[in-house]
Amino acid sequence: MPALVLLGAQWGDEGKGKATDLLGGSVDYVVRYQGGNNAGHTVVVGDQKYALHLLPSGILSPTCVPVIGNGVVVDPSVLLSELSGLNERGVDTSKLMISGNAHIITPYNVTVDKVTERFLGKRKIGTTGRGIGPTYADKINRVGIRVQDLYDESILTQKVEAALDVKNQMLTKLYNRRAIAVEQVVEELLGYAEKLAPYVADTVLVLNQALEEDKVVLFEGGQGTLLDIDHGTYPFVTSSNPTAGGACTGSGVGPTKISRVIGILKAYTTRVGAGPFPTELFDADGEALRRIGGERGVTTGRDRRCGWFDAVIARYATRVNGLTDFFLTKLDVLTGWEQIPVCVAYEIDGKRVEELPYSQTDFHHAKPVYENLPGWSEDITKAKSFSDLPKNAQNYVKALEEMSGAPISAIGVGPGRDETIEVNSFL
Ligand code: GDP
Ligand code: IMO
Ligand code: MG
Repeated sequence: MPALVLLGAQWGDEGKGKATDLLGGSVDYVVRYQGGNNAGHTVVVGDQKYALHLLPSGILSPTCVPVIGNGVVVDPSVLLSELSGLNERGVDTSKLMISGNAHIITPYNVTVDKVTERFLGKRKIGTTGRGIGPTYADKINRVGIRVQDLYDESILTQKVEAALDVKNQMLTKLYNRRAIAVEQVVEELLGYAEKLAPYVADTVLVLNQALEEDKVVLFEGGQGTLLDIDHGTYPFVTSSNPTAGGACTGSGVGPTKISRVIGILKAYTTRVGAGPFPTELFDADGEALRRIGGERGVTTGRDRRCGWFDAVIARYATRVNGLTDFFLTKLDVLTGWEQIPVCVAYEIDGKRVEELPYSQTDFHHAKPVYENLPGWSEDITKAKSFSDLPKNAQNYVKALEEMSGAPISAIGVGPGRDETIEVNSFL
């Protein structure tokens, strides 16, 4: 069981933080492989609640080495304040490793994110405004700044110059903004160099050597399958690959090392930001899911859009990630409904469609076909085993498993570490 991937099977916020933390004590490394501080992963340990944005959730497990892989985009100021916030709460962060090849979110990337969203007007993506898209764009355009560049002032200056050349033209001439001075950016970035130095490492080598020694490596995805730049609901996506393949490119670990891919799946569906969402509810049920599920963004504080479970999406997640297991979260939130509708297929222009359409136009026209499953009213938050669940809750889980194409190996019945029913062991 050398390497496992844990990723979001829907549009993010499925409970990846909780699931990662649960395994954190039994694995040797927890690795973030993509995304940046657009992520907000909640971990609840006893009466303590942590919101992690850039740091892998494994940082809360004392025996585990947290790693920020090459595929992540790092905002140094956010990282340093996240580290000091944890230190103040008594969490040891000294084992953290950051890839020297990870790209840096510069202040101008954050500016460009905000300015372009504003100019998109009603066509905006609804990004988190953290500079994610522009930083990945610079990476692909080969004008990105990497963590290792902080340690060579001359190279850093040349790269910042190259990156700002076009951007300043754009900012001043197109967007009517002030130009950003190269020296100011370089000075700010150099100011982080010393503080980050103890963490910077050749993480590709470290992880591969660890795997050779039979250590267990857990990859923790940010965002989710439907937010993937290639496999998500483009263009309403993030700019990285949260899907399983991203764990390889974002860490330098080959696919032959990965033996298990766990999709974190909410018992209903949520989405933050713009874009199509077939099962979205605009009624009292949607409001109730938001209220009971506490569906408010960890990063931006925005209300999450809520809807019923969508099995078409779950099947798609199984396929594009090669999922071996699901971890079903927030089953407790559904307690109290007499009937729980589940989307089993779509109707698109009068035809029943069982699989996610590749065409954006079709997906925008998809209407959910619902099947009603009987609900339950008993409190399930204390359930420790599958048989503790009321019959209808068991049947709901079994029905989802059948529709989704992979076994449900764990069930979340509350936010806490121990509010989990383990059906099959992950390790
Ligand atoms: P992530 O981004 O995938 O890590 O998910 P978020 O932390 O953004 O959102 C998930 C929310 O649901 C957090 O507030 C978690 O504490 C909470 N949560 C996770 N699993 C469960 C569960 O099984 N039941 C309940 N009630 N809450 C859960
Ligand atoms: P976690 O890891 C939910 C969404 C944004 C927006 C789109 C693009 O907590 O699940 P970006 O800033 O990435 O360019 O925004 O992606 N988004 C998320 N939605 N959970 C997240 O992370 C998200 N990270 C980005 O709302 O629609
Ligand atoms: Mg989140």
